Amino acid sequence: MIRISLSIVFLSLPFFSSFSQEALIHNVYNRKTISLTGDWKYIIDPYENGYYNYRYEPFDQQESPQASAFFMNSTLKDSSQLLEYNFDNSDKIKVPGDWNSQKKELLYYEGSLWYKKSFDYEASNPANRLFVYFEASNYQSEIYLNGHKLGTHIGGFTPFNFEISEFVKAKDNFLVVKVDNKRLKDGVPTLNTDWWNYGGLTREVKLVETAPNFIQDYFIQLDPKNNEHLKGYISLNGNEIEQHKITLEIPELKIKKEFTTDKQGKAFFDISTKKIQYWSLENPYLYDIELSVQDEKISDQIGFRSIRTEGSQILLNEKAVFLKGISIHEESPLREGRGHSREDAEKLLDWAQELGCNYVRLAHYPHNEHMLRLADERGILVWEENPVYWTISWENENTYQNAENQLSELISRDKNRASVIIWSMANETPNVPQRNTFLRRLASFAKAKDGTRLISAALEQKNFQGNPAIRTIDDPFADVVDVLSFNQYIGWYDGLPEKCEKVTWEITQNKPVLISEFGAGAKQGLHGSKEARWTEEFQEDLYIKTLKMLDKVDKIQGISPWILVDFRSPRRPLPGIQDGWNRKGLISDEGKKKKAFYILQEYYKKK
Ligand code: GCU
Repeated sequence: MIRISLSIVFLSLPFFSSFSQEALIHNVYNRKTISLTGDWKYIIDPYENGYYNYRYEPFDQQESPQASAFFMNSTLKDSSQLLEYNFDNSDKIKVPGDWNSQKKELLYYEGSLWYKKSFDYEASNPANRLFVYFEASNYQSEIYLNGHKLGTHIGGFTPFNFEISEFVKAKDNFLVVKVDNKRLKDGVPTLNTDWWNYGGLTREVKLVETAPNFIQDYFIQLDPKNNEHLKGYISLNGNEIEQHKITLEIPELKIKKEFTTDKQGKAFFDISTKKIQYWSLENPYLYDIELSVQDEKISDQIGFRSIRTEGSQILLNEKAVFLKGISIHEESPLREGRGHSREDAEKLLDWAQELGCNYVRLAHYPHNEHMLRLADERGILVWEENPVYWTISWENENTYQNAENQLSELISRDKNRASVIIWSMANETPNVPQRNTFLRRLASFAKAKDGTRLISAALEQKNFQGNPAIRTIDDPFADVVDVLSFNQYIGWYDGLPEKCEKVTWEITQNKPVLISEFGAGAKQGLHGSKEARWTEEFQEDLYIKTLKMLDKVDKIQGISPWILVDFRSPRRPLPGIQDGWNRKGLISDEGKKKKAFYILQEYYKKK
């Protein structure tokens, strides 16, 4: 079997890491899959003794891998044999799920941990192909099946897949994964963040069976230049993908078109139709889409809408919209740890909609796909963000390639989600030449991959001409973005709330302005004077004064205050108040609302 796959393998030059993965299978969400959810065996390996020999050489780069290599999943043949690990006698851990919240001894663990899952497999058609698909794994993952190295993935929040057709057996397959969540100076994100470094197979792992020549990817969007046209492409993966017939059906629009693929197995289309019901906040209309090739049919639900800016306005279907938002971290509101389930997403978006939001900023990295599918269904606009956070190694080409690859995987996964209107390149990065180059490259890459959405980044504000009473955005990246977004913490990190009454804003760029963050910490249930930090009254007063100040920013088109729910952070140790949690949530980690929740809710009611 010849394996066709787009391998993104970087030259092993001094500044390139070499990791290979395959082109992403699109819309696994709706495909026939075999879930590997459940108990996996695991081994904690802080010295990576299961990966390197005593000369620190990787076992998986040796001609004949030794039995002591964990990916071999070795078992004793006879009692004379020396073996110092055994998956089957090891403890169990749940997948999906970060390891930190599942095992007390792993709460702060940063290092390598091995997973092993055994499974049998019977193909529904022997000619079919089989892939293993990871919704996310934080941070660096080495993947093996039956002792064969499938590849490596770097990045903790985006999906990846590997073909296993030639290695899978009918019985006793063993999938072994080494996940290393160590933070790295040259990583994306880098060493310091203000969130918990949850490690492991944090989202679902699935087997995806496909036809020999299957629909790998597609992009179906309203033509940004003509809202009576649907444009896009469909691309195949397989050995006979040239001159292949593909059918696109949208029954409600009475569209049934057949296309023929080119040499690369790709077909582009531009279909005119006059009867589209646009996806909107009031009517988040999703069309059933069906794509079929000779041996396979897949379906999807896609909304069609236009999004663009004009001067200082954001136009959704040519109508100005104010983004009544809130920032959200991907932590489960129902239990400890990373969110990953549809129920997690439902609870978070229920709270956002109870607040009166029509928009959410999914900080600071791609969230699980349930959030986007639900936002599509509920009519909630979304800002998605690449984890280029704070002070990345701007001059390291390998770091750039990593950032671009993660952004590519994000856009590949969510490019057909109507709710997503903004791709954010970064958060609070320094205005230095190397960063400007880095972000400009990312923005051009994003625009080339998806010209239908807006580009932004959470920038930082500064004094206007040295005068602290006037604030402005003085950042060359402000010339690149479509939407000018910035975080500001006047009243919390910068003076006290009454300072909001003394500051004015000078925004010189003729672009829509979003305040991507503001907020204050409060311990839920702690009451007292509004002058006393950490009381609910302080946070409430900060919201009252900030909202009044922001109403004076004439180009403001939306806000996403920081943040919906308290979240774990190693940067927040204050005993009795933080205890390892960032307390800027409008809701506590126990799901209790604070007084400021109702200030914002009231504000959105009047918007
Ligand atoms: C920053 C940053 C957030 C952080 C927040 C805070 O703006 O973007 O990630 O959590 O401020 O300090 O609470």
